[in-house]
Amino acid sequence: MGDKRVIAVLVGSLRKESFSRKLAHALIAQTPPGFESRILEIGDLPLYNEDLDNGTPPASWTRFRDALKRSAAVLFVTPEYNRSVPGGLKNALDVGSRPEDKSVFAGRPAGVVSVTPYQLGAFGANHALRQTFVFLDMPVMQQPEAYVPQAGELFDDKGGLKNDDTRQFIQKFMAAFAQWIEKNSTREPSADFKSFMARRDEIARAYVNGDGAPLEAITAHNGSASFFPPLGGVEQGTGPVDARYQKDAKLFMPGGQSRLEVIQSGDGDIGFWTGFQSAKVKMQGASEAREMKLRITEVFRRIGNEWKLVHRHADTLAESRSQPSG
Ligand code: FNR
Repeated sequence: MGDKRVIAVLVGSLRKESFSRKLAHALIAQTPPGFESRILEIGDLPLYNEDLDNGTPPASWTRFRDALKRSAAVLFVTPEYNRSVPGGLKNALDVGSRPEDKSVFAGRPAGVVSVTPYQLGAFGANHALRQTFVFLDMPVMQQPEAYVPQAGELFDDKGGLKNDDTRQFIQKFMAAFAQWIEKNSTREPSADFKSFMARRDEIARAYVNGDGAPLEAITAHNGSASFFPPLGGVEQGTGPVDARYQKDAKLFMPGGQSRLEVIQSGDGDIGFWTGFQSAKVKMQGASEAREMKLRITEVFRRIGNEWKLVHRHADTLAESRSQPSG
């Protein structure tokens, strides 16, 4: 369901035989399901100069910024230079952070792995990076920490990991990072769910014109279901919910209008949206069209390969409560 979410991996070393890059590949190999990790190169980014952003910025800056915009999270794998962040990586942070208010880092979950062939685990680089994340507004994973010492002893001739302990640690780190991303993402709905929501809008329009058939097609017919209608009460179970939807649809005459205003939506194991439904409806037996505004929450479950409505909660807003609504 949905596309794989991309973890952009920024490697702080430009050296061909870099230990950090080798470790980055080992981390990428342990990417949990549902994610795809890719190294995003930083070596061709010109040094940040604000003048270059007044006009057409360098193509490599645009490539870098666009790739980060498409990423769900950023994993930094870096050596330490003079007890701090290597200049090339700091430059990449500066490039991505500008123009002002258009930072591609803001809000993106981050992870840090620091690497050194020596003893101290490149703690200085690890924490200097974390310091920039405060201003960049990146939620950075706290545990497990990853300070990798003696990197020269970790890899075989082909750049593969020599021992299982390291592999297990990396696996644990990546699993925790995937969870961290889930917890800290403001995730865009998948393309599949977005197109389903466009269809949901049309279905609502048909419904307020007395046509319940399109809603029937996306209503769950097995498992649990519930419907809290606007004027109180509750229907529970797929049979009663479905019957109620179809009964209420018949209250509407042709000529109705409806618009869904989605405040928040998302999908994963389930799909949901919350927001408002504004409608102008002609009810059976009424002489004039009525306007109504409902506060809506809907939840969908995947049944087969289709999203099916399993829960709908509709409340009439206080200002329109005196008016009938279906
Ligand atoms: C280093 N190195 C280093 N190592 C460390 O643990 N603490 C440090 O402060 C520094 N400082 C430093 C500065 C500069 C300019 C260089 C070039 C190197 C050594 C560094 O850890 C070593 O070269 C690593 O192999 C670099 O990482 P990669 O390229 O293997 O990923």
